[in-house]
Amino acid sequence: MPPLKVLFVLGTRPEAIKLAPVYRRLREHPQEFQTRLVVTAQHRGPLDDALETFAMFPDYDLDIMRPGQSLFDSTARIVTALEPVLVREDPDLILVQGDTTTSLCGALGGFYQRTPVGHVEAGLRTGDFAQPFPEEMNRSLIGRLATLHFAATEGATENLRREGVNGIFVTGNTGIDALLETRAALLSGRLRADGLPELDSRKKLILVTAHRRESFGASFERICQALAALAARSDIEIVFPVHPNPNVRDVVNRRLGGHSTIKLIDPLSYVRFVDLMSRAHVILTDSGGIQEEAPSLGKPVLIMREKTERPEAIACGTARLVGTDPSRIVGEVVLLMENTSEYLSRSRIDNPFGDGRASGRILDIIRSHFAIPSRSL
Ligand code: UD1
Ligand code: UDP
Repeated sequence: MPPLKVLFVLGTRPEAIKLAPVYRRLREHPQEFQTRLVVTAQHRGPLDDALETFAMFPDYDLDIMRPGQSLFDSTARIVTALEPVLVREDPDLILVQGDTTTSLCGALGGFYQRTPVGHVEAGLRTGDFAQPFPEEMNRSLIGRLATLHFAATEGATENLRREGVNGIFVTGNTGIDALLETRAALLSGRLRADGLPELDSRKKLILVTAHRRESFGASFERICQALAALAARSDIEIVFPVHPNPNVRDVVNRRLGGHSTIKLIDPLSYVRFVDLMSRAHVILTDSGGIQEEAPSLGKPVLIMREKTERPEAIACGTARLVGTDPSRIVGEVVLLMENTSEYLSRSRIDNPFGDGRASGRILDIIRSHFAIPSRSL
C-alpha cells in the first residue's frame, strides 16, 4: 500500500505554529504518510520565522503577499496559484487550519479538486459573521467544505453538530502541543530566547498584541488611548509587538510612538514570544491563539474584542472580554495590578483547549479514516 499523500496548505504565522505538530507527527511515519507543504505566504516575515522555528521546509511557496492586500487580492491570488499545485500533486487529503483566507482557499481548492479536506481547529463560532471579520464566515464555509473536522473542544463539536456537520472528532488544539513543547524546551535550556527587549524588573509587564480587521479605525484609536493611560503608571511597563498590517502599524506608531514606557517592537519569533508571555503579568490581546495559550502559562488575558469564539477561556477563569473602551481596559488592568486575590484566582494553570496530544490524535483519526494499517507498532 503506497503512503497516503497529505498536502498541507498554510499561509500565516498561526497556521504554521498550529500545523507544525501535525506535520512533524505525520513525517515520523514515512511509510504511512507522504507529506507536501504548500505555503501561500499570505504572511511573509512572521510565517518564515515560524517555519524556521519548527524546521518546516515548503515544497511550494506561492509568495502571494502584497503590502496592503485586500481580501479580494489575496483570495484571487491564492486560488489561482493553488490550482496547478493541486492538479500536479493530486493528494489523497488536504489539511488546512483555522479561518484565514489561506484556509478557506485551501478547502475550496480541495472541493474543486474533489479531494477530501481535513480542518484543524474546526467548529469555532461567535455566531456573528461580522466578528471576527472575515474569519467567522471563513470557518463556517470551511465547515461545509471539509470532510474531517478536528475540533479542539466539546463546545466546538456542539457548534458543528448544530450545523448538521458529520465527521467531527474532538482532538484538543494543536497549538497547545506546540506551546507545551516549546515551553519545556525553554525551561530545560534546549531552546533560548535571545534578543528580547530589556525589561525593568521593578515594573509589571503588560504584553499587548492586536490585529483584528473589525477593530481597524476607531477601535484601534481607543486601544491606543487605553495603553497611553496605562503607560502613565509608574509600576507598569508595556511591550507591544506590532503586527505588520499597515492598518495597525500606522495608528500604533502615531499614537504611542513617543511613550518611554511602551516598547513598540517588531513581531517576535514564536520562541521569544512564548518566553515573553511567561514573563508577563497580564496579556492584553485580540488574538485567537493567545487566548488558548495563556491558560497553560497561568496568565490572565484581557480580550480586546466584543465577542470570542473561545468561551472556554472565559469559563476557566483566565480570560475576560473587555472590548475596546479605554476606561474598561484600564479598569480591568488596574484590578489585576492591585487586587492580589483576584489576580491569583485568574492565573491558575488549567487549559481547556488541549493537553499537548492533539496532533497524535489527528494522526490516528486520519489513519483510521483511510484504513491505513499502522506500520510503526
Ligand atoms: C491574517 C488573517 C487573520 C489572522 C492573522 C494572523 C485573514 C483574512 N486574516 O490577518 O485571520 O488572525 O493573519 O496574524 O486571513 N503584512 C506584512 N508582512 C507580513 C504579513 C502581513 O507586511 O508578513 C501586512 C501586509 O501589508 C499585508 C497586511 O499586513 O497586506 C495584511 O495581511 P493579511 O494576511 O491579509 O491579514 P492579517 O491582518 O495579517
Ligand atoms: N505570536 C508570535 N509572535 C508575536 C505574536 C504572537 O509568535 O509577536 C504567536 C502566538 O504565540 C500565537 C500566534 O502567534 O501562537 C497567534 O497569532 P496571531 O495573534 O497573529 O493570530 P490569531 O491567533 O489571532 O489568528
